[in-house]
Amino acid sequence: MARIITVGKASSKYNVLIAKNTLTKANLLSHIKTKNKVLIVTDSGVPKKYLNEVKEILKNKKKYYVHVLEKGEKSKSFSSYVTIQEKLADLKFDRSDCMIALGGGVVGDITGFCAATFLRGIDFIQIPTTLLSQVDSSVGGKTAINIKQGKNLIGSFNNPSLVLISSKFLETLSEKEFNSGLGEVVKYAVYRE
Ligand SMILES: NC(=O)c1ccc[n+]([C@@H]2O[C@H](COP(=O)([O-])OP(=O)(O)OC[C@H]3O[C@@H](n4cnc5c(N)ncnc54)[C@H](O)[C@@H]3O)[C@@H](O)[C@H]2O)c1
Repeated sequence: MARIITVGKASSKYNVLIAKNTLTKANLLSHIKTKNKVLIVTDSGVPKKYLNEVKEILKNKKKYYVHVLEKGEKSKSFSSYVTIQEKLADLKFDRSDCMIALGGGVVGDITGFCAATFLRGIDFIQIPTTLLSQVDSSVGGKTAINIKQGKNLIGSFNNPSLVLISSKFLETLSEKEFNSGLGEVVKYAVYRE
């Protein structure tokens, strides 16, 4: 059974589901039943098997498209942002469609910002796959891209409509990435009242 935490206020309330595996047909399809098209954004470092799991769930149920960013912070750029926005426009996405961020904080931040600004806002779902994104960036609604003057200088507050946290994704993380997330965990533990 997944632990469900409801976050946010009034119309921007959303559920965060946490378990070993929350990426299930029931959890995802029930949430997007009114949606027509889905754009999945991921990056080249996220193991393909996770993308395949999302595709398998959507297959024959929703029209879906995939956008794969180069892995790394450089992808949180204005040029990636424009490419994604143009893809959404070319595919004729509208407010009955949605985006899925499948990856770490880089994917989550740029996908959230694209969703915040395309047609003044379409829904997006966070499926965080790094420890940092599971304990920090996927929850809280901060979305952003970088410019040469600094990190996260362009962005907005935009809550996802759902966050699916699966600890099984952490099994493939490198020690370096795991430790980077652990730093955030320790920070929260110290801050706790
Ligand atoms: N929005 C927020 O509140 C917030 C908070 C903290 C950090 N951030 C942002 O998050 C970003 C950093 O996020 P990050 O640490 O997740 O880095 P990241 O997104 O770059 O991911 C790190 C690497 O791990 C790979 N990866 C992802 N999932 C994997 C998996 N399950 N197995 C193996 N490899 C995997 C990625 O491809 C990437 O190469 C920064 O841009 C930072 O600004 C945002």
